[in-house]
Amino acid sequence: MHSFFDPASPQARAVAGLWWWMFGVGFVIWLGVAALAVYVANAGHGQRESDDLMHVPPETRRRIERIVSASVFATVLVLAVFLVYDFSVGRLLAQHPQRALTIDVVGHQWWWEVQYEDPNPSKRVGTANEIHVPVGETVQFKLRAADVIHSFWAPNMNGKRDLIPGYVSTLWFKADTAGVYRGQCAEFCGLQHAQMAFYIVAEPPVKFAAWLAAGSAPPEPPTDSTLLYGQRVFMSSGCAVCHAIGGTEAKATVGPDLTHFKGRSSIAAGSLANTRANLTRWIQNPSAIKPGVRMPALPFKPAELNALVSYLETLK
Ligand code: CUA
Repeated sequence: MHSFFDPASPQARAVAGLWWWMFGVGFVIWLGVAALAVYVANAGHGQRESDDLMHVPPETRRRIERIVSASVFATVLVLAVFLVYDFSVGRLLAQHPQRALTIDVVGHQWWWEVQYEDPNPSKRVGTANEIHVPVGETVQFKLRAADVIHSFWAPNMNGKRDLIPGYVSTLWFKADTAGVYRGQCAEFCGLQHAQMAFYIVAEPPVKFAAWLAAGSAPPEPPTDSTLLYGQRVFMSSGCAVCHAIGGTEAKATVGPDLTHFKGRSSIAAGSLANTRANLTRWIQNPSAIKPGVRMPALPFKPAELNALVSYLETLK
């Protein structure tokens, strides 16, 4: 599921095509060179060691010169063809419609902030580590970094693009096959670089539109007493200092937006499956799962932790 051998967009198909041609031609050349090396090693057997280029007959010399010139010409030709092919793939990757669904992605140590742009600010959808895209529609990504350099790489969709602090880089792709595709930070960014994954969820446009519309709506407010207690714990014990939940007082942007947290498949940028047991473990001691992570372990009593987890589990 995290492989450029399995392209799911015209952009990734172009990159994979270029790679296979380079691999194929390179392999044929390697076979030829290896065969020649074996042939020369055998042909030279039993000849006098004093044979050097200065003493070979003139006709043999000319033959050697012709072979060398032809090889140089063939090498230049192969490289030139690949240069043109490479540029044409680069052109294709840069082609995009004037207006496209735009998704802002900010790389943080070590998670991905995701915002769907909308002219109406109340319709902006914020999420983290999981990016829904409509199949058959070109999507633009505006990539920024909050701290150090990261790199956005969903190999089934397109090549990688660096996220550089103070600079906005852009990337386009059009998913053409529905599915869930893993992405990964591809630039070393500190201790948990390897645990900075994300998912591209490519789904039919109707399903995507429904997801996006639901995303801008706040979750159902809790009614049950345990859930209300859990929400109070969230608001009063430090969670709300870093996280946001739509429709509540929690609006911080230091950590991932939790408005529809339970709608995501993983916790902590692909580190854990999003289950109740894993969420409990994560909140109890984040550093045990992701050493160096910014999220602190707060001293919850068992009843508080249980109510808090129950409340978070309702954020669908
Ligand atoms: Cu972010 Cu590596």
